[in-house]
Amino acid sequence: MASAIDTTQVFKNDLFSGKVLLCSGGGSGICRGMTTAMVKHGASAVIVSRSKDKLEKAAEEIRKETGGQVIAVSGDVRKPEDMENAVKATIEKFGRIDFLINGAAGNFLAPLQGLSYNAFKTVIEIDVMGTFNLTKAASEHLKKSRGSVINVSATLYYTGVPFQLHAGTAKAAIDAMTKHLAIELGPHGVRVNGISPGPIASTVGMEKLGAAFKRDGSALDYSGVPMGRAGETMDIAQATVFLNSQGASWINGVTLVVDGGSWMTSSPA
Ligand code: HXC
Repeated sequence: MASAIDTTQVFKNDLFSGKVLLCSGGGSGICRGMTTAMVKHGASAVIVSRSKDKLEKAAEEIRKETGGQVIAVSGDVRKPEDMENAVKATIEKFGRIDFLINGAAGNFLAPLQGLSYNAFKTVIEIDVMGTFNLTKAASEHLKKSRGSVINVSATLYYTGVPFQLHAGTAKAAIDAMTKHLAIELGPHGVRVNGISPGPIASTVGMEKLGAAFKRDGSALDYSGVPMGRAGETMDIAQATVFLNSQGASWINGVTLVVDGGSWMTSSPA
């Protein structure tokens, strides 16, 4: 079980009252935690991903946990029309978009020879095109609200990681997009930043990719992480609340690594 999300011990309760978050991938894992934290601080949220049933269930659970407003809109981030539709649904329901989290990602472990042309293309399309599609669709609303964007990235390409050619390449492009968009949208009052999570316990990502942390072939071993533990979804939630808060109003174009120092000492896959 992922840890409970409660960032109100550190940040003010009503930090995001009256504001609206749109989050791709918000139905599970890290992005669900990011969404929960934002809603606990008063934001209303729209979560978007492909699996309608899973998404509806997650929205219902976040509503129960926070007492806030959360709706689910199904859509594939690879399809621009789906993202236009998600933005339209957000505006119809809540009237504005203040925060965008681009979190939808595809990943699996595969060596170059096991990576089909379509497999590589699929991950690039979900991660890179997905981030572009949703940001483009939401950008005019973000300008109106002088909002904040967080692109979920990864440290994979800092060192090059086996079996992660597709995902590392995609995340490198996302980090480039973060910088380009920060420059372009900054003059409109919109900040664009990224978060690169390290190994986060109890997520689909770790289940699929955590092989290198299974040093004895069974239990996950995080002793190589300088902070001596796995990350929690709560760690990413705290960074999200900070980056979206006024406390980060002079931070733009940065990808914040939230990994306990992990990428410098241990391979994440
Ligand atoms: C090799 C694979 C594969 C695998 C799929 N493919 N899984 N190739 N190994 N394990 C290939 C398929 O054979 C196919 O190629 C192509 O990819 C597309 O597959 P489809 O199933 O048709 O596509 P689709 O359902 O659209 O997407 C598949 C998917 C996606 C990318 C695997 O369903 C997915 O990733 N879901 C899980 C989401 C996830 O893991 N999120 C967490 C990300 S964590 P062919 O040639 O056969 O047509 C993360 C953090 C990284 O990114 C950092 C960690 C520290």
